[in-house]
Amino acid sequence: MMKNDIERVLVTEEELKEKVKEIGARITADYAGKNLLLVSVLKGSVIFMADLMRAIDLPCTIDFMCVSSYGAGTKSSGVVKIIKDLDTDLHGRDLLIVEDILDSGKTLHYITKMLSDRGTSSIRIATLLDKPERRTVPLTPDYSGFVIPDKFVVGYGLDYDEKYRNLPYIGVLKPEVYEK
Ligand code: IMP
Ligand code: MG
Repeated sequence: MMKNDIERVLVTEEELKEKVKEIGARITADYAGKNLLLVSVLKGSVIFMADLMRAIDLPCTIDFMCVSSYGAGTKSSGVVKIIKDLDTDLHGRDLLIVEDILDSGKTLHYITKMLSDRGTSSIRIATLLDKPERRTVPLTPDYSGFVIPDKFVVGYGLDYDEKYRNLPYIGVLKPEVYEK
């Protein structure tokens, strides 16, 4: 069973639900009258995106991009590869990039820089999880769900080697799972 690979639950389903509601309400207040485009960074942010968009009570559109920076390891390689770009014309749009976790910051630094060259009105970052201890690129999220310690976590969209995304909570993966 999947849960046998989890050392401990870090964020419960209930806590996730409450936090998403709270962030959604803040975004609703901040983006009234703006031209909001939610950009989900695949694949880790899909569950957060799906829940967050329903907690935002404003007209908005969504788009997806897919980048790769990790492969099967647990650390960022620093090389960001665009696997799927956005389809939307970004001129005059207020972008909110929706991420699962902000770790070294390399991925989001790269994406933000790339998208800001396309005529956007504004770009902000909403991340469910933040590991500030691990930051190598200066980057502060505008909306952040939970600040977590430097542990490798899975669930609620986050994976290890593409697995565990379907766990309904955030859990710390047992190190023996990725050390073997
Ligand atoms: P960064 O470029 O180092 O900030 O990496 C961000 C990306 O690395 C995230 O979007 C995740 O896909 C992945 N990542 C970082 N830490 C974890 C973790 O603890 N569990 C699962 N994925 C992670
Ligand atoms: Mg990711």
